[in-house]
Amino acid sequence: MLLKSQHSGNASCSTQQILILMTLLVTGGAGFIGANFVLDWLATSQEPVINLDKLTYAGNPETLASLQGDARHQLVQGDIGDAALVSRLLAEHQPRAVLNFAAESHVDRSIHGPGEFIETNIVGTFRLLESVRGHWAGLSDADAKSRFRFLHVSTDEVYGSLAKGDPAFSESHRYEPNSPYSASKAASDHLVRAWHHTYGLPVLTTNCSNNYGPYHFPEKLIPLMIVNALAGKPLPVYGDGMQIRDWLYVKDHCSAIRRVLEAGRLGEVYNVGGWNEKPNIEIVQTICKLLDEMRPKTEGSYASQISYVTDRPGHDRRYAIDARKLQAELGWKPAETFETGIRKTVEWYLANPDWVAHVQSGAYREWVSKNYAERRA
Ligand code: NAD
Ligand code: DAU
Repeated sequence: MLLKSQHSGNASCSTQQILILMTLLVTGGAGFIGANFVLDWLATSQEPVINLDKLTYAGNPETLASLQGDARHQLVQGDIGDAALVSRLLAEHQPRAVLNFAAESHVDRSIHGPGEFIETNIVGTFRLLESVRGHWAGLSDADAKSRFRFLHVSTDEVYGSLAKGDPAFSESHRYEPNSPYSASKAASDHLVRAWHHTYGLPVLTTNCSNNYGPYHFPEKLIPLMIVNALAGKPLPVYGDGMQIRDWLYVKDHCSAIRRVLEAGRLGEVYNVGGWNEKPNIEIVQTICKLLDEMRPKTEGSYASQISYVTDRPGHDRRYAIDARKLQAELGWKPAETFETGIRKTVEWYLANPDWVAHVQSGAYREWVSKNYAERRA
């Protein structure tokens, strides 16, 4: 249990007020974006984080190793759909906000096995919303109640696919999800919206474009290409490689979430993107060039490993985010360009071979039982 009183600093506040104002409940904070968020948060804030994560294959406590022994962080292994657990955490820690990163997130996996996506992204979000609603409705302190936030982290994929020349996705773009993953995220967005509209739950939603950066699981395009290139394996480019994604460095996504949490208008949706539309093949070629420079092969270029493979079924052709609302209303803009962000990312993978090796060997799963998780009784 964290000693919240150490964070008080204000003799006039009651303990109850301090508890209410000074904890975040983050879900999915052992995954790629959630862990980057937690690490960034605790690098600049004393406000504790309760990190609820099911620790699926995508949840990696090793990413949070630098927080071991840090009283501001507590990782709890559990499911967002476990109402008893979530209610207990809410009652015990009285967070001022719940940030929902937890999800099944990989499109290819959703095509091969959509069940988990329905379970976590739809049913899990529903159950989480209900637990949070019960907690929020029962808050007796009017100030704590009015300050409380539920921030739902979602994706640009809910808007479907753009044709060449179409304007980028704004917040009012119609929902047209095409994969089991994006359909499940779209459903979760609708639930969040409805819980605000019907019950008044103080929600915020962000819809972000493709992230990249440190601690990205090497099943996704950018980390997969880096680790395959270094291992001398083929670099599988789906179809013609001309599908376009709008890339954002993960720490810029985290700063956008912090800003929306701080100042976003209740019930509003904020699109988050980096104005970095690139075809996949260009991404892969850029990675090869950076590796040629930073870790040259004895002979030739990494680009010789590029291999065109069968396309993803239902593959969306183009995503692009119009992030002007977030910039105009909340003054957010990304700190990284694609050029600076991808360089940092390649450098990070070169500097962290153990993290990659443990993910690839499955050794990171052992941490789940050995090191970090507070298991539920
Ligand atoms: P990820 O797959 O890396 O991490 C997901 C985390 O959620 C993992 O730690 C996993 O263990 C946990 N989790 C899964 N099911 C759970 C459950 N039932 N209960 C509790 N925890 C559970 O995903 P990510 O890339 O970090 O994405 C985080 C969020 O951001 C997701 O909601 C995703 O839809 C959204 N998003 C991702 C991107 C991207 O490019 N990666 C872009 C926009 C939005
Ligand atoms: O747009 C936001 C979304 O971005 C998030 O909501 C998802 O959680 C996240 O996984 C990501 O989805 P994508 O499907 O766009 O990401 P992925 O890295 O799987 O693929 C990026 C592009 O690269 C896509 O067009 C498919 C292609 N690709 C992917 C892989 C894994 C390949 O060509 N080869 C590959 O091996």
